[in-house]
Amino acid sequence: MFNKNTENFSELLLFPQKVLLYRCKGFGEIKKELIEYCYSLKNKSTSKNLTLNNGWQSDPNSHTQKRFEPFLNFLNDNIETCLKLYQLKPKGFYVDTCVINIGGENSYHNSHIHPNTDISGVFWITIPNNSGEFVFENPSNFGQNNLLNMLDKKESENKKMYHSYHINPIEGNILLFPSNLRHSVNLNRNKKDRITIGFNVTFV
Ligand SMILES: [Fe+2]
Repeated sequence: MFNKNTENFSELLLFPQKVLLYRCKGFGEIKKELIEYCYSLKNKSTSKNLTLNNGWQSDPNSHTQKRFEPFLNFLNDNIETCLKLYQLKPKGFYVDTCVINIGGENSYHNSHIHPNTDISGVFWITIPNNSGEFVFENPSNFGQNNLLNMLDKKESENKKMYHSYHINPIEGNILLFPSNLRHSVNLNRNKKDRITIGFNVTFV
C-alpha cells in the first residue's frame, strides 16, 4: 500500500490524443453563400454514401470544383491557423479531401477513421438543436475496458480517461483531430438539416 501522507510516487500521462476546437474567422461573410452552394451541389448529384446514413454526401473531391475556390481559400486560411495552434510545423500543407454532408432528421455518421492522410477535421456550417453530437472513441476502449470501468470518477474526469468523449458541435467552428482517431456522429433528432464539411489535410 502507498502511504498517502508522502509523495512517494509519480505518474505520467502518456500518448494523449490531441484535438483542437477553433472558431473560424470570417464565417458570417461566407455562411449564406456556402449553404446555397452545398444545396446546389446536392440538387445535381447523388449521394456518395461514404459514412453518412439517411443523408447526402458529396464527392470527396468537391474542393477541386471551380465554384468551391472561395470556400477552399477560407478553409485553408483557417486550417493554417489551426495547425499553428496545434503546434504543428509542416513546411506546407494541402487539403486533399473535402466531403460536404447534408443530413436531415434521422441521419447519422457511422464510426470511422480517415486513412492515408495526416490530420483531419470537420467544419460545422449549420447545426440545428439536437442534430447529433460528435463522438470520439478511445483507441484503448476495448483493451482497457475494465480498467476504464474501475477508475475513480473524478480521476476519469480530470484525465479525460473515458471510453468515448462527446462534443457538442458549434456553427462556424472547426474541430481538428488525428486522422486515425475513430469517430461518429449521433442521430439528428431535428427536422432541419445539419450541414458540415469533413476534410483531410496532408503535410508537405
Ligand atoms: Fe470523419
